[in-house]
Amino acid sequence: MNILLLGSGGREHALAWKMSQSALCSQLFIAPGNAGTEACGTNVPIAVTDFDAIGKFCKDNNVEMVVVGPEEPLVKGIYDFFKADNALKHIAVIGPSREGAQLEGSKAFAKAFMQRYNIPTAAYREFDTENYEEGLVYLHAHATPIVLKADGLAAGKGVIICQNHVEAVAEFELMIQQSKFGDASKKVVVEDFLSGIELSVFVLTDGKSYVVLPEAKDYKRIGVGDKGLNTGGMGAVSPVAFADAPFMKKVIDRVVEPTIQGLKKEKITYKGFIFIGLIKVGDDPYVIEYNCRMGDPETEAVIPRLKNDLVELFKATDAQQLDTVSMETDPRKTVTVVAVSGGYPGEYEKGNRIDGLELLNEDDILVFHAGTKREDNDIVTNGGRVLAVTAFGESVKRASEKSKAILQIIEFDGMYYRTDIGYEFYES
Ligand code: AMP
Ligand code: GLY
Repeated sequence: MNILLLGSGGREHALAWKMSQSALCSQLFIAPGNAGTEACGTNVPIAVTDFDAIGKFCKDNNVEMVVVGPEEPLVKGIYDFFKADNALKHIAVIGPSREGAQLEGSKAFAKAFMQRYNIPTAAYREFDTENYEEGLVYLHAHATPIVLKADGLAAGKGVIICQNHVEAVAEFELMIQQSKFGDASKKVVVEDFLSGIELSVFVLTDGKSYVVLPEAKDYKRIGVGDKGLNTGGMGAVSPVAFADAPFMKKVIDRVVEPTIQGLKKEKITYKGFIFIGLIKVGDDPYVIEYNCRMGDPETEAVIPRLKNDLVELFKATDAQQLDTVSMETDPRKTVTVVAVSGGYPGEYEKGNRIDGLELLNEDDILVFHAGTKREDNDIVTNGGRVLAVTAFGESVKRASEKSKAILQIIEFDGMYYRTDIGYEFYES
């Protein structure tokens, strides 16, 4: 079967790497892809939101499956676009319908959904220009810290944790009255601050049944010791030692099951990944957010641990046969360390040559490309997050040492990476 994967990050390189190993995959196309995905298939210069061009490409190239990496095309309704077109509707689209993608596309939708199904999450209220004054009163009476969330997609920047009331009121005003995040912050969710350790749980659902992938933890801050600015993600580790069997049972019973049952009950079409961002408060899981896709860089740590054929899993997802699948996981640990461009998450340069990639050939090390592109015979930087290096190890510490050893061979101007990914789990 010919498959088209949408996206261009480290997540997509990891998915492409895994799918290209499947006997079910004849031709793999990646739109737009990066310099790493070239080794797994054919890059196609089409933007992930250009639905007309994507549809035409699928018709012209006999594509039978589209796997959607990032959230934007999902929230914009790529699933519905395919299903509404007679010449495209036979194509399996791995990703939820526009309505299902609201779990990520609207924080207010996700909170109301969780409330309807008693899924544990922080208490909240939602505000817009209509009840703005009421919002101010609510903020003043709220214990600090206060969490403000832009309702819509805000490129990962829409969550602000305010330490005091002055800051909260100022941000609230900026978001609602000054459109700080454009239309995404016309509506704002104000929620209680939860204190605990975070982890990410990944579910693949066919709308009836589901499978759970290995869990992971990502490291969002730029600096060692979780200090400094928030980024798209500087690294990840899988498994997560504190997510033991009793804890994961709570996650399944209290979060995953009611989520799937809720989607079913509301007849929301969902054939794709659900990424559940959780926080462990005491011994209990609370949902921080849903995403309608896999995480990045978590995918680069999780997918290498998956022993199943990923295309087979996607076929079962489309056919609503995930109940017949059993998951197999590599027991080894993975640590993914992301190398970023100097200055990221602020301003950074692009176009710097990356050296050393040709020297790497260890088979338990995977170098996934994120922001890279080919320029003549060179591979150059093309984004903030440039490479994601994943190593396997019997322990987290060993895996982390291996990733870092590889990063010492790779060079580009301004290269930076965190040296402490997985630090809380070095003993595991
Ligand atoms: P998000 O953009 O939804 O991933 O949120 C960004 C980060 O904000 C999360 O990874 C958490 O670290 C933090 N966060 C979000 N909601 C809360 C909350 N209710 N309590 C504490 N931290 C939160
Ligand atoms: N690593 C967090 C995300 O993909 O949203």
